[in-house]
Amino acid sequence: MPTREQDRILVTGAAGQIGTELVLALRERFPAGNVVAMYRSTPLAPEVAAGGPSAVSDVTDAKGYAQVVAEHDIDTVYHLAAILSVGGEQDPKKCWEVNVGGLLTVLEVAHERQQRLFCPSSIAVFGPNTPAVAPQETPLHPTTMYGVTKVAGEILCDYWFQRYGVDVRGVRYPGLISWKAPPGGGTTDYAIAIFHAALRDGSYECFVSPATRLPMMYMDDAIRGTLGLMNAPFKALNHHADFNLGAMSFKASDLADAIAQRVPGFTCSYAPDARQAIANSWPDAVDDSAARDEWGWSPRFGLEEMVDDMLENLRHGLGTE
Ligand SMILES: NC(=O)c1ccc[n+]([C@@H]2O[C@H](COP(=O)([O-])OP(=O)(O)OC[C@H]3O[C@@H](n4cnc5c(N)ncnc54)[C@H](O)[C@@H]3O)[C@@H](O)[C@H]2O)c1
Repeated sequence: MPTREQDRILVTGAAGQIGTELVLALRERFPAGNVVAMYRSTPLAPEVAAGGPSAVSDVTDAKGYAQVVAEHDIDTVYHLAAILSVGGEQDPKKCWEVNVGGLLTVLEVAHERQQRLFCPSSIAVFGPNTPAVAPQETPLHPTTMYGVTKVAGEILCDYWFQRYGVDVRGVRYPGLISWKAPPGGGTTDYAIAIFHAALRDGSYECFVSPATRLPMMYMDDAIRGTLGLMNAPFKALNHHADFNLGAMSFKASDLADAIAQRVPGFTCSYAPDARQAIANSWPDAVDDSAARDEWGWSPRFGLEEMVDDMLENLRHGLGTE
């Protein structure tokens, strides 16, 4: 069932890279007073804080989370609170507690209250043995704790659907590129940092090698895909929380070249660090035909369009025009 006008929506992780933009997008489509932005310690972006209701809670505090949901009488949850790949390698136990423990709490409440749920996965579910273009169905053997939690999350979501009939949906986001909110400690953060450095310093030292190729997506497409999946008729879906979602795939050097064509004098050097090993374990691209077939997914931004849009928005914000 698509989200109804009167539904009350909760976004966890609302201070994050995706949450910031998703809350704003939801408040454009639904009454702003019905979209609650939940955060923990990182403060909300000013326009998110000012534009509608918010709540403070930790997803590992089951009682506190249930209270927020009850207080706001929530029908639909976009569960974005998580620890990402780099943070997950720094503290694997915490990553498990937040990503799997937190998800369990959210799933239990969704079952009790018959809520609809969006819970994203990631290309981090794949591992070094995944084919270069990751199929929808393929063995999942990630080598990061973040990836392990995302595989567990997909299976948990599927279990809650099979066992309790919970309407839970999700996509395997690729690396997401955006300018409104900073990224939260992922391996693909270089694809954002490079823009800021290009405009600020005219140069960037990239933490993955020039030949590193990864699946990427512009945030506009990610938000459109998220809302598109949540709007799809439930009966049309054979998959639930594990849709591959593709848009573009480029090498780090392709991105640097595209920026150099638009920022005169920009240079990029390369000093791969520990994040290179994580990047190496992920595929180059994904086969997203299930998302295309089951709910009509189609991306709008390729590399050139994304670079134009990023630079335009950042130049505006940084006052370099
Ligand atoms: N951004 C990407 O490129 C990307 C790619 C693939 C998947 N994803 C997934 O999308 C979701 C959102 O990612 P994001 O990039 O917005 O992440 P982010 O790190 O920017 O935001 C996550 C937010 O969750 C909050 N959080 C962390 N622990 C919490 C806890 N215990 N209780 C409550 N809040 C907590 C953080 O404070 C942060 O504001 C995650 O599930 C992530 O795995 C993101």
